[in-house]
Amino acid sequence: MTRRLKIAVVVVLGLAALTAVAYAVVTRTTRSWAERDLELRAQLAVTSARRGLSRAWRADDREALADVLADVTRDIRIMGAAACSPTGSSVATTESYPPSLPCSRLASRIPRSALGDATSLEPLHETTDIHGGSVHLSALPFRDGSSMLGFVVLVHDLSFVARRETAARTLLLAAFVVLAIAGAFLTWLAGRMARRDWTRELRRVLAGEEDRPEYAPLLRDVRELVSRMVVESDADATGGRWTPERLRAVMHQRMHGERLIVLANREPYVHQRDASGALTVLHPASGLVTALEPVMRACSGVWVAHGSGSADRETTDTSNRVRVPPGEESFLLRRVWLGEEQEQGYYYGFANEGLWPLCHLAHTRPTFRSDDWQHYRAVNRRFAEAVAEESDCDDPIVLVQDYHFALVPRMLREILPRATILSFWHIPWPNAERFGICPFREEILEGLLGSSILGFHTRQHCGNFLDSVDAYLESRVNRAEQTVVQHARETLVRPYPISIEWPPRLGPAVPSPTECRARVLDELRLPADALIGVGVDRLDYTKGIEERLLAVERLLEREPPLVGRFTFVQLAAPSRTRISRYRELDERVEALVTRINERFASGTYRAVVYLREHHEPDTVQRYYRAADVCYVSSLHDGMNLVAKEFVAARDDERGVLVLSHFTGAARELTEALIVNPYDIEEASGALSLALRMPSSEQALRIRAMRELLAELNVYRWAGRMLLDAERLRRRERLTGRISTSWQALAVER
Ligand code: G6P
Repeated sequence: MTRRLKIAVVVVLGLAALTAVAYAVVTRTTRSWAERDLELRAQLAVTSARRGLSRAWRADDREALADVLADVTRDIRIMGAAACSPTGSSVATTESYPPSLPCSRLASRIPRSALGDATSLEPLHETTDIHGGSVHLSALPFRDGSSMLGFVVLVHDLSFVARRETAARTLLLAAFVVLAIAGAFLTWLAGRMARRDWTRELRRVLAGEEDRPEYAPLLRDVRELVSRMVVESDADATGGRWTPERLRAVMHQRMHGERLIVLANREPYVHQRDASGALTVLHPASGLVTALEPVMRACSGVWVAHGSGSADRETTDTSNRVRVPPGEESFLLRRVWLGEEQEQGYYYGFANEGLWPLCHLAHTRPTFRSDDWQHYRAVNRRFAEAVAEESDCDDPIVLVQDYHFALVPRMLREILPRATILSFWHIPWPNAERFGICPFREEILEGLLGSSILGFHTRQHCGNFLDSVDAYLESRVNRAEQTVVQHARETLVRPYPISIEWPPRLGPAVPSPTECRARVLDELRLPADALIGVGVDRLDYTKGIEERLLAVERLLEREPPLVGRFTFVQLAAPSRTRISRYRELDERVEALVTRINERFASGTYRAVVYLREHHEPDTVQRYYRAADVCYVSSLHDGMNLVAKEFVAARDDERGVLVLSHFTGAARELTEALIVNPYDIEEASGALSLALRMPSSEQALRIRAMRELLAELNVYRWAGRMLLDAERLRRRERLTGRISTSWQALAVER
């Protein structure tokens, strides 16, 4: 039932109740008025006929008395009259007097004493039924001087009262019908007019022709609803999937084609001169690059990064820009140059010896040096300025990436207060207690709170961040809304699990899985029935490479038939080699590989093939596609895109993923064999299970994970963040307009 219909029903029911009450009151009043009227009339009739009555009564002339009574009944409402003796015998009656009301019956109703005593006589008035009709009778004592002659009875017909009542009822009913129709109509009309006025005003406000602060919450809801509907209709058109086209459309339609600025320390393309002096382009091993590069290809814009390649300077123009990807050139790469000391302090020192071990639970102690911190601050400012230089408006959309730039959001906000800053922290965020060991914790938190939106991979990391803010900063943390307000600025803290591009860009250069396998077997001189395990990482202590190799060793120990048949290939890209902890890891892994290989050596067989060098994407793809099992054993990892890349590479629906429980990816890729990498028994058991898994089960698992990746791809990651940013921008613009109009109003007053 609509609201207006409900109001109309209430109005009509109200009117009906009122009519019923009115009817009862009117009926009772009409009847009592009529009776009162009849009593007076009876009194009057007897008084006016008094002389004639006295004379005839005294003379005991009954005929004359009947004539006088007949005169009295000329009034059409008097049905009949009678003269009765005090004892109740009939003296005279008119012809029409009802015999059912004899004097004797009436006399008994008047107290004897009263009849005997002329001074205390009381008239009797009552309504009674005769022959199915209602009559009113008045028995009036009649005296002549002091002697009581008897009483005169006048009987009135009451049918006229019933007629009056019927007329009143009809009238009331008619009034009710008219009022009900009028009431319902007026309710409808008032509702319609109010709605028309309201919608007209709302339309004006929505169109931006008018500023009405009282509409602000409603406007927000309407706009949110509309944008949700638009996104849903976008989703319908693309079967609910995010694609590069859809992301591009969001940028064009919802962000009005504004230029996206990405800030990340690592550049997506590194120009190098090799030993022969030839120019090469390197794709760095970085999950961040794997995820963001396809987003930039879809949206275009500019990527601001540290120019770290030996040939980077010579390949950029005078504004330090170069169009990439080479040959495709869909976006700009702006390189920022850092001095040796700066790079040492900011990148190796504070970012990778301080924040990296602080955020990863991998048993490496963070080192915080105040010199490193000074460089970190200076370099953050340098990058904030570079971003501002790349911005072509005063409210750009900037995607600040990772732990290298914790201070940039606030610094950038100081330069461009209206910028929409989306920061994403690609690594885990530790619990508040652990974060508290950082001597610069307040500044780091404040820096990040310059963001409009701050994203993490998981809810848990968002919660840890909010706990840290709560513990160390003066601010308002709203856990239900997942926001922090500091210095009157709000930052949304949200989980956006990162992913890879989908459909995967395997490229025509990547051969079929069978060919890949043949090539790998050939490269490694393995027999045709060899079983291949693969690990792909940067040489980083968070990746659990040692634990992985120990699990391989244990597998061969448990299952001797696999010796000579199973080979684990570890692709390891040297990383951050100026840091002693990384060099130490390098040595330890090398030693472990040697030890394991020596232990299981037989002929040319090597249990572990250790490929310690940088590998370009096509090599990595080849190994993914050739492998029977891929083991991702991170001790702690924000997401880990190797796991997702392996699944994406297996369009043949073969191969098994063994995945560490301590990666963000384990929350999504639940069809992988999930293990605790510290538990060598469990991990080696999972490897064994993987190698024995029937191909039908492999297909089931890989297919389920591929379906998930098709859905939760990196375009969705970027799209969701951008749509949230767009909502925020609209809200801020509106709030800006509202506060401007409030200020104008205040000035007017
Ligand atoms: C992690 C970080 C990235 C970084 C990558 C490679 O994935 O989150 O920001 O780019 O490691 O590390 P690198 O120090 O070589 O850039």
